[in-house]
Amino acid sequence: MNLPAGFDAIVRRCRSVCVLTGAGVSAESGVATFRGADGLWNKFRPEELANVEAFLANPKMVWEWYAYRRQLLSDVKPNEAHRALARLEALVPDMLVATQNVDGLHQLAGSTKVVEIHGNIRKNHCQTCKKPVEIVLTEHDGPPLCPSCGGMVRPSVVWFGEMLPREAFGSAERAARHCDLFLSIGTSGIVHPAASLPFTAKNSGAYLLEIDPEPTLLSSYADGVVRAPATVGVSAVVGAFEHQRNPS
Ligand code: OAD
Repeated sequence: MNLPAGFDAIVRRCRSVCVLTGAGVSAESGVATFRGADGLWNKFRPEELANVEAFLANPKMVWEWYAYRRQLLSDVKPNEAHRALARLEALVPDMLVATQNVDGLHQLAGSTKVVEIHGNIRKNHCQTCKKPVEIVLTEHDGPPLCPSCGGMVRPSVVWFGEMLPREAFGSAERAARHCDLFLSIGTSGIVHPAASLPFTAKNSGAYLLEIDPEPTLLSSYADGVVRAPATVGVSAVVGAFEHQRNPS
């Protein structure tokens, strides 16, 4: 796998990496992306399923859709791209993964420096009082009621029209502003404000590398592009760090 010309020098100087991942990083674990030919948004309508108005109007339908997605995710495993990113933590003094994915696979692979800017599908909170609520998912075929206030419990994912978790996105923006290398992996770059992070990094002086088998909105702006599936492209990038830090 050829990395862009001059990338060795970037690796040598690099002290800080910020990573943005999208659905593509989990594709080879068997998780559907949103906008590809088999993408979730080609089969389902986001406006009917992924916003607060839909939940309030039809809580059972929205709850069931998330139960279906939770079921699909219940036995997926991290792939080599997740694992390579987890190894990268030990090779640079400073690293953060900002993921748009709600599947928790980076943490399962061993990454400890992860912010989930679109939430986590395995968690729940109360729509009314916002407190986290622990429930056994299989025991409910519609939204259970919050033990604190009686409001409806909902999945802790960010829906269209909602603000991103302030602390998580703030950390991602800071990391983007201060990194030497920004990796954009498996994201179409369509959904903001997540899609602004690579631009923040590049405008702050970082080298911007995209890893994606298809051209994206970011491609023409990137300093380097790796046209490969995440397992191949991320392994090659992390391999370059491993080779440079521990030559043998
Ligand atoms: P998209 O479905 O928009 O884009 C997926 C990207 O992954 C595309 O650029 C694909 O080319 C790429 N891809 C496919 N297979 C790949 C592979 N094996 N390796 C690497 N890349 C691959 O997904 P996102 O950009 O993540 O938001 O979508 C952003 C947000 O839109 C999601 O977080 C979700 C959705 O609506 C919310 O739910 C709030």
